[in-house]
Amino acid sequence: MDMTDLGNDISGVIQADRAHVWHHLMQHKSLETNDPKIIVEGKGMRVWDASGKEHLDAVSGGVWTVNVGYGRTSIANAVRDQLIKMNYFSNSAGSIPGAQFAKKLIEKMPGLSRVYYSNSGSEANEKVFKMVRQIAHRVHGGKKYKILFRERDYHGTTIAALSAGGQGERNAHYGPFTPGFVSVPHCLEYRNQFPDAVDYGVAAANAIEQVILREGADTVGALCLEPITAGGGVITPPDGYWPRVQEICEKYDILLHIDEVVCGVGRTGEWFGYQNYDIKPDFVTMAKGVASGYAAISCTVTTDAVFQMFKDDTDPLGYFRDISTFGGCTAGPVAALENMAIIEREDLLNNTLKMGDRLMENLRALQNKHNVIGDIRGKGLFAGAELVADRKTKEPAGEKMVQAVVAHCMSHGVIIGATNRSVPGFNNTLCLSPALIATSDDIDQITDAIDYALTAVFN
Ligand SMILES: Cc1ncc(COP(=O)(O)O)c(C=O)c1O
Repeated sequence: MDMTDLGNDISGVIQADRAHVWHHLMQHKSLETNDPKIIVEGKGMRVWDASGKEHLDAVSGGVWTVNVGYGRTSIANAVRDQLIKMNYFSNSAGSIPGAQFAKKLIEKMPGLSRVYYSNSGSEANEKVFKMVRQIAHRVHGGKKYKILFRERDYHGTTIAALSAGGQGERNAHYGPFTPGFVSVPHCLEYRNQFPDAVDYGVAAANAIEQVILREGADTVGALCLEPITAGGGVITPPDGYWPRVQEICEKYDILLHIDEVVCGVGRTGEWFGYQNYDIKPDFVTMAKGVASGYAAISCTVTTDAVFQMFKDDTDPLGYFRDISTFGGCTAGPVAALENMAIIEREDLLNNTLKMGDRLMENLRALQNKHNVIGDIRGKGLFAGAELVADRKTKEPAGEKMVQAVVAHCMSHGVIIGATNRSVPGFNNTLCLSPALIATSDDIDQITDAIDYALTAVFN
């Protein structure tokens, strides 16, 4: 990195940050004795901090976002040109990139046909919740208003999104929550909740049916699930789970909402996570990787059948009476168009599959070497390694030890993640989500750093 880029006053930046910035997900007590980390530059898979130190980023901007990597001038140029031409108009009118990206996106999502723009994953999910509630009022006489969500899943930070949140530590102290959200059991076989199951996937899905029957199918409007649970521990669904979930939704006329905020746009090696499992969703939401963090954009995508329910012009309240002001900012869809074009031009879905295989192979080798790795899970460039104090009892590794592994990697120039203030007692999964441009050397550097850290922390 060219240190002249730092400007003349990096210590002033650090002071200003420490004095005035309230960081996300952070206990600020630590900043009384440590400087805040300021990231000043990124290129490809790497970022540089204010001291000039280089880091290999194995988590795509900390929270699985920068799918095409840093420093993409083609996205920056597309955004710049668009902003000069037309930066914003409320999305009650159309825009050129808004229409073009919607068309391109829908081409990747057979069975779906409409795109609603907003700015964050939380908001995209809230749009679905509002649509489901409006359908309940208008189509089901006020019934079918309940929304089911799953233990360990996360759907966002607002109060309604937290009401659909299955992570106790994320939710603690923020209630009371919105009524009408009901939890179903998680499907993580390693933390077996159905010991008598012959087919674990089917048993975990059947547990959803039990909740529907308990609540009354005529009260349940939608089921909201991550295709692969992300921040709750990178939970890949067991075989047999998704076909049975789909069957249950059809049987009880329940709309299926897939939250692709993490898996969407390439992370698993398919355009969308649900496409690995032959799912036919009624709603798909996405955010992070849609424009890889070059602009704020989220999308709520749905079917023509859902869209048609909002077209009754005999009722003044019949249409979707919702607006997201910045859903009309053109930076989002124009960045998303170029982001998608890069993935196509550079064949990044294939790279994700290949490098994802290598990542899993390396993690398996680490599991053979380190008893502390109890389970490894993932798909594409999206992986988790669950650390345990004892392989037999599966007692979770202590949170301090897990954080020490993350810190050791960081001090050796590799940024990895771990489940954090998520599921009580289970902040013990290391999380990896490198950009889709990762090379074999990058993958090896990531797993070498973990190897070194596990040796240092647990031996
Ligand atoms: C699966 C999932 N859904 C929704 C969200 C919320 O997205 P945002 O932070 O953009 O509101 C997140 C964020 O981490 C997520 O992981």
